[in-house]
Amino acid sequence: MFNVHSRIVDTGMYVPDKILTNDDLEKMVDTSDEWIYSRTGIKERRISSFATSVLGLKAVNDLLTKIDKNPLDIDLIVFCTISPDNNTPSCSCLVQKHIGAKNATAFDINAACTGFIYGLVLADSLIKTGKYKNAIVIGSEVLSKLINWKDRNTCVLFGDGAGAVFIEATSDINTGIIDTYTRSIGEKSDSLISRSIPVSNFMVENTEEIYPYIEMDGREVFKFAVSSIVESIEKLLKDNKLSINDIKCIVPHQANIRIIEAAAQKLKISVEKFFTNLHKYGNTSAASIPIALDEVNRSGNCKKGDLVILVGFGGGLTYGSILVRW
Ligand code: UT7
Repeated sequence: MFNVHSRIVDTGMYVPDKILTNDDLEKMVDTSDEWIYSRTGIKERRISSFATSVLGLKAVNDLLTKIDKNPLDIDLIVFCTISPDNNTPSCSCLVQKHIGAKNATAFDINAACTGFIYGLVLADSLIKTGKYKNAIVIGSEVLSKLINWKDRNTCVLFGDGAGAVFIEATSDINTGIIDTYTRSIGEKSDSLISRSIPVSNFMVENTEEIYPYIEMDGREVFKFAVSSIVESIEKLLKDNKLSINDIKCIVPHQANIRIIEAAAQKLKISVEKFFTNLHKYGNTSAASIPIALDEVNRSGNCKKGDLVILVGFGGGLTYGSILVRW
């Protein structure tokens, strides 16, 4: 059973209809389209009026229209998010309920913007045990509820959306997930924070002011992002005796075009090798890679047998990569 691994069968996505442009943001905070576009590459982002589980469900419904799968035959649902609807029930159990996947094991994970990478690595590892034959892995975020819309340092960067993939066990070594790499740097946890309800002692009145919105040391995260992309890609190439020229396409977490350009420069490759759509959606955290993967999939640019690298980085700090044969 241990020669089994997983292959990506198909992808789906959903983004909300409401578009918030840089021009709209100019009316809300002291910023400009010129600053946002030149510093980040972002032109617009989507804003949701639905909960995170609903966005995830819509991406899964898109996925289910493309695969011939009875929901009763789905084994695992892994939902990656930092913006869940509730502490419990999990978003994954809500998706399970709505699609009628009564035989699935469903749980959420949080690895911030690396969430989808960690989720896919985890689902692939569970499939390799032989206990599960397939999985839906979802990345979905409603970051607009975690944003201080008066803070120009953060409000221009993020957006809402969801993507999903269906993976299943295969013993065909010519397709699927070939290798993975994940790391965390907990000692740099202060660089990117979104707080939850603090501990309160019931005997003492809690006077602590809570700032629940995303706070970030942008320059620190920028440097980490560039080095983690380079390390994650080089590690997979070295361990699999590949050259960067063997890779057809890199699907990175979509945070900032300057991060991707700097990584491309260090890797001595054209930025064109990286798929980007951040100009349309901004940074959608755990949703950015599955949304990008769905757009790559639908573009038809990757053919069967092509090598693709997915690479993510984010709060925690966390980072990682996945080598896939399409
Ligand atoms: O998913 C992972 C999470 N996050 C990231 O990947 C983000 C990583 N970091 C970045 O992408 C960049 O650091 C930012 C886009 C966040 C900021 O770009 P920067 O080139 O590092 O700018 P900065 O923070 O050094 O700020 C430069 C100036 C500052 O003004 P002063 O101090 O030089 O007078 C900021 O106050 O730009 C100012 N500024 C703005 N001005 C207009 C910051 N935000 C804005 C804004 N509009 N929205």
